[in-house]
Amino acid sequence: MAEVVFVDSAEHAGELVADAIAELVAAKPDAVLGLATGSTPLSTYRALAARHLPLGSVRGFALDEYVGLPPGHPQSYRAVITREAVVPLGLAPSFVRVPGDDGGPLEGAGERYERDIVEAGGVDLQLLGIGSTGHIGFNEPGSSFASLTRVKTLAARTRADNARFFDSPDDVPVHCLTQGLGTILRARHLVLLAFGESKAAAIAAAVEGPVTSSVPGSAIQLHAHVSVIVDEAAGSQLANADYYRAAWASRLPWERL
Ligand code: F6R
Repeated sequence: MAEVVFVDSAEHAGELVADAIAELVAAKPDAVLGLATGSTPLSTYRALAARHLPLGSVRGFALDEYVGLPPGHPQSYRAVITREAVVPLGLAPSFVRVPGDDGGPLEGAGERYERDIVEAGGVDLQLLGIGSTGHIGFNEPGSSFASLTRVKTLAARTRADNARFFDSPDDVPVHCLTQGLGTILRARHLVLLAFGESKAAAIAAAVEGPVTSSVPGSAIQLHAHVSVIVDEAAGSQLANADYYRAAWASRLPWERL
């Protein structure tokens, strides 16, 4: 079962995840981080940036990227990762990868990305947000639990959710390249963050619902080391909330995320 931690704010969540990353990097300076985009990981990136950790040897692999945006588009995930993570955290730009950024053709980009993750030694800690469709990465409902990085079509609801980043809803790309659920499950530690009422149903379904490809986030139940960090609103539909709070409050001295 996932460990579920309630926090009072996204900032508090960011500090907890920054603690986990700081500990990881202290033990393994060339750790591999799985990076997410969107609003959810921003407090983690801010908390990490404020610590001025030596992250120059850390490698990063983004979860996903839009297909079809012009190079350098400010909402491409390459641009977002550079702006929100690479620059403020002091990561080496050439050590941070985004699907499809190797200059090769779109066809085969997923297989090449998978190979590059494996060659880097695999992801040590994977940051995840969750979409209102229940997606993690851009694995929309119906995605295979065995899926690897590939081109996907975004759900209409995801395009509507992400329209806030674009001038017009029609500007949101239809396609993306995303790590698969199988890729995500290979990471050694999954850290799923969610804030706000709009995530409550997706979090309850992912953490406590049946394991089903209709709720891609439920794939986390198949992983042995998952930390789910939610604020009160995002955790408001969790049936076992009292148990999660008690377990976290009575964690043993050496227990971490
Ligand atoms: C982003 C990603 C998505 C987002 C999800 C939530 O790289 O893979 O799964 O985490 O759509 O987005 P936000 O955080 O903007 O609510």
